[in-house]
Amino acid sequence: MNIQDIMKKNKSWSESKTKGDPEYFSNLIKGQVPKVLYIGCSDSRVAVEQIMGADLGEIFVHRNIANLVVQSDLNVLSVINYAVIHLKVEHIIICGHYGCGGVQAALSDSDLGDLNPWIAHIKEIYTKNQKELDSITDDTRKNERLVELNALSQCQNISKIQAVAQAQNERKLQIHGLVFNMNTGLLIDLNYN
Ligand code: CO
Repeated sequence: MNIQDIMKKNKSWSESKTKGDPEYFSNLIKGQVPKVLYIGCSDSRVAVEQIMGADLGEIFVHRNIANLVVQSDLNVLSVINYAVIHLKVEHIIICGHYGCGGVQAALSDSDLGDLNPWIAHIKEIYTKNQKELDSITDDTRKNERLVELNALSQCQNISKIQAVAQAQNERKLQIHGLVFNMNTGLLIDLNYN
């Protein structure tokens, strides 16, 4: 994929949108009313609108390596604050995925330089659940389980943010922990709530 391809594909995509609905873009620019905040991994294989069959305007998105909600990360905190207080989303989805490189990095001892402090957050989850994880002999399943535990742990982290806790109490904001199973293309609900 090069820049010429991107420009060409964008043009035909834009045309396909206005073909069935000439007002599509003039309506789109009026504003967004997404009901869902999605926090997922930056992995190129986990394209949120595609896997959830969503259209533009339906999902407010934040992505980072291994879908982390870190209390000192102003970026994720700003996204959450805007989504919960201003957009008043009804659902927050934290979505991990099997085969996550960030989670795999936490399971290895390799030095990743500037990435180390970020990966350390996942290593903490590994340490907290070491007994369970060390009892899993299959390496793929171990990665998958840490992906699940990581998503659940991020659900807990986001529940502790004041705006989120308040919206849970006052207007029943729901938090969902999901995993994208790349073996099947299906989402798994970890039943956080
Ligand atoms: Co990932």
